Amino acid sequence: MSAAPTAPALDALPMTLPRLAEKKRLGEPIVMVTAYDFPSAQAAQAAGVDMVLVGDSAANTVLGYTSTVPVSVEELLMLTSAVRRGLRTPFLVADLPFGSYEASDAQAIATAQRFVKEAGADAVKLEGGGIMVQRAAAIVAAGIPVMGHVGLTPQTSTALGGYRAQGRTAEAALKVARESLALQDAGCFSIVWEAIPSAVAEELMDRMEIPVIGIGAGAATDGQVLVFHDLLGIREGVGARFVKRYGDLLEDMVRGVRAYADDVRSHRYPEADHTYSIDPGELTEFRAQLQAA
Ligand code: KIV
Repeated sequence: MSAAPTAPALDALPMTLPRLAEKKRLGEPIVMVTAYDFPSAQAAQAAGVDMVLVGDSAANTVLGYTSTVPVSVEELLMLTSAVRRGLRTPFLVADLPFGSYEASDAQAIATAQRFVKEAGADAVKLEGGGIMVQRAAAIVAAGIPVMGHVGLTPQTSTALGGYRAQGRTAEAALKVARESLALQDAGCFSIVWEAIPSAVAEELMDRMEIPVIGIGAGAATDGQVLVFHDLLGIREGVGARFVKRYGDLLEDMVRGVRAYADDVRSHRYPEADHTYSIDPGELTEFRAQLQAA
């Protein structure tokens, strides 16, 4: 029999950067999940996760784009605000979308500030190493916590040769190592490793002083993140190798809408229980006045 779901205590304190660092120190796994709207945030809150990411994966999961590249700052700001309203305790990280931070430190700071000021994010996430390390340092210097993201970075997946695991040669693994350490030195409070060999992650963990959150990076990282729609089966297809499904909600959704459609078409819905009444006297009066009208 599976254990009863654990809900956070009503007096649970909001997650903070020191508490995340403490979790790493104690070896307590950090749980992160994406959310894109009020109900998914409420689910994350009720399930007691530590961190919520408004990922630019929203481009695929809720906005119907075929990649994360087209999603705009305005679109992610709206989704982040909705998620903020559904959360109380988890630490809220918002993805900076492609094209909103790469050009200059000033652009990166200005975009990050919008996510904090307008949408209530606690921190922002950006993808990649190289010049992005400088962008991360600039945002951190402006007082906004930054999460890095290396390995498979979907915003630049074309340059990486597609949606494929990274760090699978010694040279490529060294690139992951160098970028991770540079982002750590730049002041990032945490980093995501996406789709890298678990053996590479194991080798690197000793050098990571900040919490590392893995997605397709094996079990050695300090925490895990999964996309809400992947883990609950709200999107079609099998998904990436690292996805584990904990539900089949898309199937449930289709089943529900189909049952409703069948009921409407066969006059089983609405039933008396779904209707409003009117006092019989008022009804008689209404009929009389209608006739006279
Ligand atoms: O956008 C996203 O959902 C992400 C996670 C995969 C880490 O960046």
